[in-house]
Amino acid sequence: METIQNFPEITKKDFPLLNNNTKSNEQIIYLDHAATTQKPIQVLKKIDEYYKNFNANVHRGAHQLSAKATEEFENARYSISKYIKAKSTKEIIFTRNATEAINLVARSWGEYSLKENDEILLSIMEHHSNIVPWQMVAAKNKCKLKFIGIDKNGKLDIDDFKSKLTSRTKLVSLVHVSNTLGCCNPIKEITQLAKQKGSLVLIDACQSLAHQKLDVMNLNIDFLAGSGHKLCGPTGIGFLWSRKEILEQIPPLFGGGEMIQDVFEETSTWAELPHKFEAGTPAIAEAIGLAEAINYINNIGLNEIHEYEKTITKYLFEKLNQIENIEIIGPSPEIDPDRASLATFYIKNIHSNDIAEILDSKGICIRSGHHCCQPLHRYIGIKSTARISMNFTTNKEEIDMFIEQLKDTIDFLKINS
Ligand SMILES: Cc1ncc(COP(=O)(O)O)c(C=O)c1O
Repeated sequence: METIQNFPEITKKDFPLLNNNTKSNEQIIYLDHAATTQKPIQVLKKIDEYYKNFNANVHRGAHQLSAKATEEFENARYSISKYIKAKSTKEIIFTRNATEAINLVARSWGEYSLKENDEILLSIMEHHSNIVPWQMVAAKNKCKLKFIGIDKNGKLDIDDFKSKLTSRTKLVSLVHVSNTLGCCNPIKEITQLAKQKGSLVLIDACQSLAHQKLDVMNLNIDFLAGSGHKLCGPTGIGFLWSRKEILEQIPPLFGGGEMIQDVFEETSTWAELPHKFEAGTPAIAEAIGLAEAINYINNIGLNEIHEYEKTITKYLFEKLNQIENIEIIGPSPEIDPDRASLATFYIKNIHSNDIAEILDSKGICIRSGHHCCQPLHRYIGIKSTARISMNFTTNKEEIDMFIEQLKDTIDFLKINS
């Protein structure tokens, strides 16, 4: 890659949807990368190649096609293990998405390990995916959920965390980078404190995996959940990482083919890791596509992506801050330099859905609503916000166009209100 400032020009051409128009020959400006990323041509070609040249079921057939499909599928697991610096491919479990990965932990680890009055510590900024599974297990095992609040800068309140962490805490389950506030949580500090109390730590890495380097051993966490579609990969594939020692102890969530060693009429024994947790035919094309996406991101360089995204985030905040009556939720880039390249905001007396709809009519895709963070919105006292989220394909011209259209939209809605 040349200089990081050229990123969008170099990378955008790889993304058919960002190059081509979708509606009436207009170029769209896609600013919803936190919801899902667009897919580079390399990923699309790889999936096509699988279906055209080596489509077969994995781990089953004696034939060459199956051997090739199995090799590519297992190589995908290897790519993920390297990407997050896991010790072994046995620690990577393919799931449909991050939501399924968290549910797997809640059901297989949670239901198996949690006792009455045990506590699970979450934060108020969690995505529903990291709340609802814990509500379900807490109801079943009679445990207690506790929520860490937000400080005055829109970051996780570390003092509140310390006060709520007790010897009864069995799991701290937190988002690494918030999809709404954008803050990057200090996982290493949290893990250090949690371990002193004997608690395990899960991180929801949906919003960090495509934006910054991550090392599960260095962070000293116990579980990590990720989604492929937020990482320039296909939908329908995600993964759970956990330590081999934990995965070996806990029961599988789903039963069926592929996850067994031997099946008798009344009982069965389980396959070795990671297959014990992967019942049925997996998402083969999607896993292979995800590995290609990881390859694509690695070729650009995660450090370079992170640095570039910092520059556009700063630029976006400078521009947004010039808009009258705007309230941005979450920390500024000065307060949290590692924050996500997104901004969530609201404007008094204007509904965020109206803003998003008008911008959409101008070819600008942003998100509005609660972003699957209803408890956070309730905590802050607003029902709905607008969110613009960027990545390495976003350039300053697009930010300028968004700002210009946002200002016009606000003026229009004010006149009409
Ligand atoms: C922080 C965070 N966690 C979890 C999820 C859920 O991801 P998925 O729907 O791919 O399981 C999302 C998706 O928006 C997210 O942003």
